[in-house]
Amino acid sequence: MKTQIRKTQCPNGAKSGFESDIETFFSSTSTVTATGFFRLDSLFKDLEEIILQDFLKTNTVSSRLKILSAGCSDGREPYSLVMAIQQYLKDSHGIKPEVLACDVNRAIIDRAKCGIYRLRKYEKQKVRDYQSGLLFLTQDKVLVKDSIRKKVSFRVADILRLKSEETYHIAVCANLLFYFQKEYRTEILRKLSAMIRPNGYLYVESVGTKFMGNIGFYRIHPGAHFFRKRIFN
Ligand SMILES: C[S@@+](CC[C@H](N)C(=O)[O-])C[C@H]1O[C@@H](n2cnc3c(N)ncnc32)[C@H](O)[C@@H]1O
Repeated sequence: MKTQIRKTQCPNGAKSGFESDIETFFSSTSTVTATGFFRLDSLFKDLEEIILQDFLKTNTVSSRLKILSAGCSDGREPYSLVMAIQQYLKDSHGIKPEVLACDVNRAIIDRAKCGIYRLRKYEKQKVRDYQSGLLFLTQDKVLVKDSIRKKVSFRVADILRLKSEETYHIAVCANLLFYFQKEYRTEILRKLSAMIRPNGYLYVESVGTKFMGNIGFYRIHPGAHFFRKRIFN
């Protein structure tokens, strides 16, 4: 990488295309990849108690539940989502979760596809109720089972440039916006909003919540991090 970065002088001190590309990349990308299985209690609690209930009421059997995990890191977030949904719905409802998980970091997506993890102490507690999705290779090393892995497609992509023909019932944007400046936060939220179906849901961390009213979403209950997209914006 180092050898490829050459300063190109432009007339009037303007930036070369290459320099401005690099600048855009770093301002639209965070390199922090911390994650965990079932990391955010508020996400999984509201998913199970409110959103899945609602989905069951409003969708016929055998529906596909389309989810976007934006900034999915090493895959523990999207795999947790599928484990939670399958555990909650069992197979009896015929609802099939399908997750598109994207991250700008190629190395971490490669790791995600392997689906092998060493559990941290707190994660051992968290996965206790969802163990049917995991194969324990040793006491603290797990392999995510095929039945869970086949529900997740991974893609290396900058969320701001993600091209998706699909729209989603749920998008999760957790622990990502915090690392960006204000203008990029709204840009990311607008981008995600465009990919969510009317009446669909967006999970955002605290720093994103104040923008949500402006882009046509309302909070599902006081204090929630899930917002619902209004039918007419
Ligand atoms: C702190 S981790 C959060 C992971 C996960 N969402 C969670 O809450 O556990 C943030 C992730 O976002 C990814 N990321 C940063 N900028 C991104 C962008 N512009 N598009 C897609 N992913 C991005 C990073 O590579 C990193 O893996």
